[in-house]
Order: sequence, then structure tokens, then C-alpha cells
Amino acid sequence: MNAKWAPDSWRTRPVSQVPDYPDAAKLNSVEERLKSYPPLVFAGEARRLQEALGNVAEGKGFLLQGGDCAESFAEFSANNIRDTFRVLLQMAVVLTFGAALPVVKVGRIAGQFAKPRSAPTETIGGVELPSYRGDIVNGMEFNAEARTPDPERLVQSYNQAAATLNLLRAFAQGGFADLHKVHRWNLEFVADSPLGHRYQELAERLSETLEFMAACGLTSQTVPQIRETEFYTSHEALLLHYEQALTRVDSLTGKWYGCSAHMLWIGDRTRNLDGAHVEYMKGIQNPIGLKCGPTLEPDDLLRLIDALNPQNTPGRLTLIARMGHERVEAKLPALLRAVKRHGAKVVWSCDPMHGNTIKSASGYKTRPFDRILSEVKSFFAVHRAEGTHAGGVHFEMTGQDVTECIGGAKAVTEDSLADRYHTHCDPRLNASQSLELAFLIAEQLKAERNGQGARIAEAS
Ligand code: PEP
Ligand code: CO
Repeated sequence: MNAKWAPDSWRTRPVSQVPDYPDAAKLNSVEERLKSYPPLVFAGEARRLQEALGNVAEGKGFLLQGGDCAESFAEFSANNIRDTFRVLLQMAVVLTFGAALPVVKVGRIAGQFAKPRSAPTETIGGVELPSYRGDIVNGMEFNAEARTPDPERLVQSYNQAAATLNLLRAFAQGGFADLHKVHRWNLEFVADSPLGHRYQELAERLSETLEFMAACGLTSQTVPQIRETEFYTSHEALLLHYEQALTRVDSLTGKWYGCSAHMLWIGDRTRNLDGAHVEYMKGIQNPIGLKCGPTLEPDDLLRLIDALNPQNTPGRLTLIARMGHERVEAKLPALLRAVKRHGAKVVWSCDPMHGNTIKSASGYKTRPFDRILSEVKSFFAVHRAEGTHAGGVHFEMTGQDVTECIGGAKAVTEDSLADRYHTHCDPRLNASQSLELAFLIAEQLKAERNGQGARIAEAS
């Protein structure tokens, strides 16, 4: 770590994707207030996650990371949180049971508010206003008042994140996640579909397994892992004012931790080696992610790895490839080989969302389910060919029955996109599409374990 690192040293570096706040005094006072508020997560939890990810880096686990593209103030409700959590649990069961691998569950939740944008302003009907950068920065409505960055939104985001985390902790530890409830996690609108039936079948088998285990003396009472689960939070560390205010020294180790979430990641637009975002992430001890898009060259990746994980600690760094379905086979192998040759211990995860966004004929931003599936399959096939572990997936998804990505077994069509298109930013997988992907990934993982990954990927 740079000897001069401090939570605010990012301010000496070029910073992109951070808004211009017109009222600097107000921003300052909000930052001071946030600094005095309790941390949202504890260093010990971040360390536990890092250990779990360390196992994934060694091929002994799988990372499931998912949630909203952008959380919003308007859609903040217990039901939304529960439904996202529930689908992630279902996916995790499908993966754990199907692939016989421990699954590390990380939500894009409780802090995933700030969004990078391709242009700083947006012009509609000759009127130019700042782009919408997520509810933590400004409002989505197209008028000057809403679009002006407002520091008070940092406090509202903190409060929403705190309440969200509180509920997630209750769900994870308070009985909701007990494996005996596996049948009840099936959401109503999924239950009566091919995926819902497939899930029920798996739930039946799991229940039988639990009965067998109980007969052997392994019950919810004796094995806490049956009645509760570990669930972690994550978001893109984009709005560094917020991140800095929640950076705290861990009293046990004397080291700095980002206490806004267990895991933070660097976006594809802000991974500049000398930039502010990389500088901030260098000094915190959390497990971190780095988005790897198609423009990332192997040499640049190695420099970033050395800067971000100089001790080569397994679990510290997750590389999240987001190439686009047509570019995985051309771009990923060179990165995998460079990282392997370098001896870097990383988790390789696949984000099949961000390289596959298109505009539909009707003008909606969407993602064809086929392309998402194809990127996941190519990701597994490339890992199989290189002899490396396909360590995880990163999805934009929701427990709601939205119509944002086209395709899937219960097909969303171009014409139905308008029916329930609710995202505040990018199109998300709905619950049944998420489940469908989980089944596919379980098969790929099983194949990886049996040494047949490439064959299965080719055949399907
Ligand atoms: C995101 O994950 O929401 C995102 C903006 O991704 P990327 O940085 O990969 O474009
Ligand atoms: Co997104």
C-alpha cells in the first residue's frame, strides 16, 4: 500500500464520473455528518467474505453476486428487498445442490445507488440538463431542480442502506433462509412455469436430503448452516465522497475498511490506474471487484492487479469480465493466460449483462436473454479450455416480475417490454430468467467438475 494513502488521497487524483455539486458548503457538512454515523458493516464481516472468496479463488466455491442495476428511493420497500433476497436464495440452492459447491452470496444491494454515465449532460427538446447519476446524486425526472446534484441524497442513501441491511440480516439469520423453507421461496408468478416446476422438483429432493440428515442427527438445531445463511452486500464504489465518509479504522487490526458494504468494485469506466477510484480502493482492506471490459489489455490488467493486490491475497480481488457475448472468446483467453502466468490469485466472475445491452425497436434499452446465456456459456468454455476455474457470476436482476430483458423460457417479447419496465437504469433479469440461468450454470459447474466443460458448452 502507498505509504501516503489516506481515505481522502483520491482527491489528489483525476476523478471521473463524480458530479459537480453546486453547493460545496452543503456537501461538506453532509460529509461531516456521515463521518459521525455508525459504519454499515464491520471489518470482521468483510474479512469473512474475503476468506470465502479465497476458497473460490482456489476452485473450492462459487460466487453469486446480483441485484438491481440501480437501487432507487421510489422502489424502496420490504417486499422488494425480500423478493430479491428470495430469488438469490433460490439460485444459490440450485447452484449448491446442483454443483455440490459452496456458494458465496453477495447482493448488489444496500448501497448500489450511484451510476456512471456515458455523457455528463442529456438534451431533450433543446433543453440540456445534467445526466441522471442515480438517486444518491440527483433525481431522474427531467427538470433542473431534480437533476441538480443534492448532497442530502447521500444521507437518504445511507439511511436506506442501513434499513435494507437490517432487514437482510434478519432474513439471513432469523429463520426465513432456513433450508426447510425451500419450497416457500418459490415466487407466485414463477411457481406455475417450467422453471417453477423444475425448482419444486429440486426442492423435493432437498427436503428428502434434509429428512435423511435429520435421521442422522443433523438438524437446524445442531447445524446452524441449515437454519441461517451468510449474505453479504456490495456496490460500485463510484461516489467517493460517500465511500470516504464511511471509511473507518478497524479497531482490531488498525487497518482501513470501506464500511459502506462488505465488497466494493471498480467500474469499467473508472479503472484508470492513476485515477481517483483505483487510488481509493488501494487503501481499503475489503474484498474488491474490478470490471474487465473488452478494451482492457493484459498488461494494464497486470498493473492494476499489482496495484490493488500487492500481497496477492486470495479473495481480495475478483475480476468481473463483461465482454459482450461475441467478444468473450476473442478477449478473455489472453487475460486469463496473463493472470495465470503472473501467478495472481483471483476470482474470475462473469457479468453477462453490461456487454449485451441493445436498444429495442420500440426504443427500450434491453438485453436479449440468448446473448446473456451465450456469454455465460462462452465464459465457462474459455475457462475449461484454459484450465482455470469459472468462479462466479454477476447479474443485474430483481425478484419482481419485470419485462426488461427479452427472451427466456417464459418469454418476454419486444412487444411486452412496455408492460412492466421499471428499472432506474439498465434492464434486469426477472425472477424466472434468473432461475433459468442458475440451472444452466449448475450444469456448467457440474461439467467443470467432471472435466467435461468444453464438451457440454459446445453441445448446447
Ligand atoms: C454496473 O455494474 O452497473 C456497471 C455500470 O458496470 P460496468 O462498470 O461494467 O459498465
Ligand atoms: Co448496470
